[in-house]
Amino acid sequence: MRARVVVGNWKMNGRHESIDQLVKALVKGLKPGGQVEVVVCPSSIYIYQVCSLIEGSLVLLGAQNMSEHDDGAYTGELSAGMLKDHGCRYVVLGHSERRSLFGETDELVAEKVKVALAVGLTPILCVGETLNERESGSTLAVVSRQVRSVIDLVGVTGVSQSLVAYEPVWAIGTGETATPAQAQEVHLAIRRQVGEIDKTVADELRILYGGSVKADNAEELFGQPDIDGGLIGGASLRVDEFLSICAAAEMN
Ligand code: PGA
Repeated sequence: MRARVVVGNWKMNGRHESIDQLVKALVKGLKPGGQVEVVVCPSSIYIYQVCSLIEGSLVLLGAQNMSEHDDGAYTGELSAGMLKDHGCRYVVLGHSERRSLFGETDELVAEKVKVALAVGLTPILCVGETLNERESGSTLAVVSRQVRSVIDLVGVTGVSQSLVAYEPVWAIGTGETATPAQAQEVHLAIRRQVGEIDKTVADELRILYGGSVKADNAEELFGQPDIDGGLIGGASLRVDEFLSICAAAEMN
């Protein structure tokens, strides 16, 4: 049985006060004894603040991005070691906004996965097709290429220490969610791809769905056999909504 994971990706949102309120309400709202891993990924400048607010709670901490380099002369960058030093356990890598707005390639994302693993961070590897790619019937080919570039560099062992998030680009922040069947098809394809190399790793790999997940569609998505949780953007900024999504992951 794979333990579910729900990750909040706050993107470039929040201020001291709103984050204080959000995290305090989240910590208070999570019921003890739950089976779901709950992770929040603040903008990096607020990681330190969140780290102290979640101390002793059920909430875990992640970052949204990191450099592919170790410490050194890289002005404006943050290293994997720095994230670890500030209590992060996870790091989102290859998010479609990083790929499309900041030119991150499959090779760069794979490099970052390798560096994250080397310091003991759990990468949350994001993959997903654009609308054009879906409409031209290349969804599975695109996702498989994105996964393969990571397997090629870190092997299936590296994948076993990571989470994968399938996020169709056309569903991110648009209000348009993939149907549970559409998401399940891609999740199963990813699991089969990994399973061709190592069946045990594939069976244990946690694959999250992301893209306009909300309280009212979470339960149906999480009910699919190969969906092991969610990567939540907009809805993670509203505590009631996020708590309902966490509860939906707990339920089925
Ligand atoms: P969304 O974002 O939930 O706002 O669609 C998801 C994501 O970008 O991870």
